[in-house]
Amino acid sequence: MLANKPVFTWIHNLMKKMNTEIACIRLGNVNIISVTCPTIACEFLRKHDADFASRPLTMATGIISSGYVTIAIVPFGEQWKKMRRIFVNDLFSPLRHQWLQDKRKEEADNIMFYVYNKCKNVNDDGLVNVRNVAQHYCCNVTRKLIFNTRYFGKGREDGGPGLEEEEHVNISFVLLKHVYAFSASDYIPWLGLLDLDGHKSKVKNGMKIMKKYHDPIVEDRIKQWKVGSKSVQGDLLDVLISLKDVNNDPMLTPKEIKALTIELMLGGADNPSNAVECALAEMINHPEILQRATEEVDNVVGKARLVQESDVSNLNYTKASVREAFRLHPVVPFNPPHVSAKDTVVGNYFIPKGSHVMLSRQGLGQNPRVWNEPHKFNPERHMKNDEPMIALSEPDLKLISFGTGRRGCPAVTLGTTMTVMLLARMLHAFTWSAPPNVSTINLAKSENGVLLKDPLVLLAKPRLAAQLYYR
Ligand code: HEM
Repeated sequence: MLANKPVFTWIHNLMKKMNTEIACIRLGNVNIISVTCPTIACEFLRKHDADFASRPLTMATGIISSGYVTIAIVPFGEQWKKMRRIFVNDLFSPLRHQWLQDKRKEEADNIMFYVYNKCKNVNDDGLVNVRNVAQHYCCNVTRKLIFNTRYFGKGREDGGPGLEEEEHVNISFVLLKHVYAFSASDYIPWLGLLDLDGHKSKVKNGMKIMKKYHDPIVEDRIKQWKVGSKSVQGDLLDVLISLKDVNNDPMLTPKEIKALTIELMLGGADNPSNAVECALAEMINHPEILQRATEEVDNVVGKARLVQESDVSNLNYTKASVREAFRLHPVVPFNPPHVSAKDTVVGNYFIPKGSHVMLSRQGLGQNPRVWNEPHKFNPERHMKNDEPMIALSEPDLKLISFGTGRRGCPAVTLGTTMTVMLLARMLHAFTWSAPPNVSTINLAKSENGVLLKDPLVLLAKPRLAAQLYYR
């Protein structure tokens, strides 16, 4: 493993060489079960879901979850059950989604204003860093939902990120990169003392920066509720603070609330932004797809207003393009590990207790047995005549979008809304083209991750009336 980095490429190459869609690789004292077959994947996450609903204890997840008091990276148990209930019932219920609509709209409007200003800025020559825009949009939305603010500092007139938000977004992505990053000490625990790969110091430093921004806001807000200067809920932080147990005591401790705000921030950052960046990059290389997607948005929305959330259900080709981006350009190579609670037989395979089952997002999405021309970006493949409405979720696990089962994403509606709104608005409000002297967008992946190697930079021109871009 140490000699074959990145480890996910090594595992995928091994599986290809052995011509297998399930493999067990022993790393130190851990069995890693990698899966690229949707039928076997469904056996794990649907048929045997209850036996594979845990997560491993690792160096990074222990630090990021403040000692496993959160949800996404926490092993199965009472803490996870409590948090899961809160996520499903209190943070991401349909009613809550509606309650938060104005905040999402403010951020969708702001990002249009920001891109418009970038187009107009002579110093930028009309060039827009799409990765930057997409990442800031996602983090702005999440920051607004949790803390009711876009800016930690005084912000910027043009709608762009201030220095604080630059740091906040950068560090979120550093943490995400290290969550399940095959750190040597997770498999050979005594190596943790040495921090040979440097992961531990990066994660610790990342958390220090996140806490610098989050903790004072959480502490101040708890105080406001205590002294009664706040009594009406305005955002998700208020919701978390106001939750009560059966004895009418606070359901969550300050430590749990602080840790949850960080995990919420990370949950909303990478998947939507990467899908939009990659979909747009593919569309520039396939102008007929760009044209069809733009025509769809024009037909549904017209030119007299911006795309609204109520349009999302009618934007099937846009949603098919996002699904195709999830399939072909997953932001991480593997789904988070699912740990087996006991010895289990899945399909014909004996899976020992404690194994880390890792569904390969890359391998499932590009399995040649399942997908025709798997390396071609073709949204059409998701358009089925008998399905009037395309969804981004994929419970059959032919690709991984939100996963399925007990550990499936609890924020499907929010994730879908954020992703489709951003892509649809970008297509509708601007004409996009490659910068001068660039004939094709380079879709090569970065060496140690699966983001595109080069951030997508495109030429943008407004295509709607100027007043529509003003917040
Ligand atoms: C397009 C957007 C999104 C995609 C594609 C996505 C995808 C996923 C996937 C694949 C999982 C893991 C499923 C598994 O373990 O089998 C997951 C879990 C999770 N996601 Fe999302 N997600 C998105 C948006 C969000 C957002 C916006 C939030 C919150 C702000 C969020 C919060 C979570 C949480 C808390 C879990 C862990 C659930 C658990 O372990 O019980 N996700 N998501």
